[in-house]
Amino acid sequence: MSLDIKRYTITAALPYTNGPVHIGHLAGVYVPADIYARFQRIQGKDVAFVCGSDEHGVPITIKAKKEGITPQEVVDKYHAIIKKSFEDFGISFDNYSRTSAKIHHETASHFFKKLYEDGKFSEEVTEQLYDAEAGQFLADRFIIGTCPKCGFEESYGDQCENCGTSHNATDLINPKSAITGAVPTLKETKHWFLPLDQYEDWLKEWILEDHKKDWKTNVYGQCKSWIDDGLRPRAVTRDLDWGIPVPIDGADGKVLYVWFDAPIGYISATKEWATREGKDWEPYWKDEGSKLLHFIGKDNIVFHCIIFPSMLKAEGSYIVPDNVPANEFLNLEGNKISTSKNWAVWLHEYLEEFPNQQDVLRYVLTANAPETKDNDFTWSDFQARNNNELVAVFGNFINRVVVLTNKYYDGLVPAPSVFSEIDTQTLDELKAYPAVIASSIERYRFREAQMELMNVARLGNKYLADEEPWKTIKTDEERTKTVLYVALQIASALAVLSEPFLPFTSKKLKSMLCHAELVEASTWNDVSSKSELLPTGHTIGEGELLFSKIEDEQIQTQLEKLQASKKENQAMNATVTPQKETIQFDDFTKLDMRVGTILEAEKMPKAKKLLVLKVDTGIDVRTIVSGIAESFTPEEIIGKKVTVLVNLAPRALRGVDSEGMILMTETPDGKLVFVNPGEEGVQNGATIN
Ligand code: MF3
Ligand code: ZN
Repeated sequence: MSLDIKRYTITAALPYTNGPVHIGHLAGVYVPADIYARFQRIQGKDVAFVCGSDEHGVPITIKAKKEGITPQEVVDKYHAIIKKSFEDFGISFDNYSRTSAKIHHETASHFFKKLYEDGKFSEEVTEQLYDAEAGQFLADRFIIGTCPKCGFEESYGDQCENCGTSHNATDLINPKSAITGAVPTLKETKHWFLPLDQYEDWLKEWILEDHKKDWKTNVYGQCKSWIDDGLRPRAVTRDLDWGIPVPIDGADGKVLYVWFDAPIGYISATKEWATREGKDWEPYWKDEGSKLLHFIGKDNIVFHCIIFPSMLKAEGSYIVPDNVPANEFLNLEGNKISTSKNWAVWLHEYLEEFPNQQDVLRYVLTANAPETKDNDFTWSDFQARNNNELVAVFGNFINRVVVLTNKYYDGLVPAPSVFSEIDTQTLDELKAYPAVIASSIERYRFREAQMELMNVARLGNKYLADEEPWKTIKTDEERTKTVLYVALQIASALAVLSEPFLPFTSKKLKSMLCHAELVEASTWNDVSSKSELLPTGHTIGEGELLFSKIEDEQIQTQLEKLQASKKENQAMNATVTPQKETIQFDDFTKLDMRVGTILEAEKMPKAKKLLVLKVDTGIDVRTIVSGIAESFTPEEIIGKKVTVLVNLAPRALRGVDSEGMILMTETPDGKLVFVNPGEEGVQNGATIN
């Protein structure tokens, strides 16, 4: 790590361009990245804050198929929506690009070619999953199967969304085509692989030794577990028709893997920005004095900590990230945010319902940021934080200061007389805040930082409540002037310090205090180092409300909207799956199903969904691993009579051999239920036919 940081290269995960962005995206990635970037800019630092739309990859082609339009039409539509949402919420990217841009195709192709020519890839003909019915190879999200690591049954070909593991499609158990539902066959095809195993030693030193202390424990822990498991070569090309063509001879019909091209998008976006600004992009990516930071969600950790750094290392002339402050996930009203279930708060819809209240959402998302664990967004918390914190603390303080100054002194900042001990103490306390808040931001603790910001407003409120200028105005004119002078200094400090968190409020406050030239020019540290931010004799403007109360009805409307989504989903789930094709009696008799009893149950370590069961099948007592841990505790199922498919070929889940399957069904709202073998008196081992 370099002590002397010359510039900051700050990236925020490129969102997939197959849908709009929601509060989960904002809370996990874009608001924290924006706070950080704004903070460094106010410090006068050289910052390149870049992002853009991730326009390749299978989800986009799937969306296009579904809507009967071209992938290009899909990305054009959502790129515009996403870009506007970010602008509306004040996410201050220096450049928001897109991976369909010419400069990106060139940069990514060039990057691939360089690695290819330097012999950094291995070229291999391997058997890949193929859907004969659809006539195409099944890469990434075109394939769904059971995760070999955690047993999650809907893992994608390249990544399991349940445990975050990134794997090869051929590793999946029971793979199925997401296009036709067919069981894929294997077909030979040539691809280029990045031999991650060759970077293992370097990664060990770089992450496990150099960054043990300064990376977040969730990020470090995930990296360690992958490295400890051993890394394998990963294909960086795909047999798909949407993406960046593999830029070498003999690669017709092949494109770069989306996770190869997308992170290079950070570089392309920096180039595009530099060209526009007449700057040189290279130092931002190649000078050791640059601090490279990737803001991402936890599902992106492996790509930003293992794969992309290995690519940069292989290229040879790039720096690697100094930190990857990944967040966990934000839930909504107790449930996982889901695009397909419309369980989300979409940014563009929020602004229709809460116009000009961007800062309220930014505030609540930061106050509840999923920094160390998954967190929950609830509308009632949103309302409470607005009404009890933004309105009652921040807004109330500013309002009192501005109104009283206008009322008593026609808006003129009064001259203080002698400072009392409380005044001096208050001003000293105020001057300590910039360093306190900065220290939290520098350590990526944005919730803590914002809490300290609110403490500045609390300091102001307490000061006014204790000194009561509305009373002293009748008895002690000099004292009143001093108190308002001090309070005005706190108000202007808030205008500066709130900028990274509440940029719209900060701007409003600055213009209310009418000292664009004073506060715009002040940087963060002026709050501590200058004797005053607002000098005596300066005139402030009229008061204007910074925040307004959110009423119960508004919250009710939002809750009803979610309720409607829930109903719709239940109705959809309740539709009965069509009957499968006819089978013969012999097919049925192949299944050996027995009555059994669960004798023991325990959680599989580090697998959220799995329970390891000991089941008496009448034939024997055997181990069965079952994906029911989210629906049942071990205690409640011990002794339960169940139906067991006993002649299913054994398979290993997380290293435990599972010898059979417990039959389950599901209620419309997704609750798992055992298929109960019925009446009293049936014995373990009784056959079901
Ligand atoms: N599109 C990915 C996602 O939404 C993130 C891509 S980040 C980048 O999960 F590094 F590839 F750009
Ligand atoms: Zn998994």
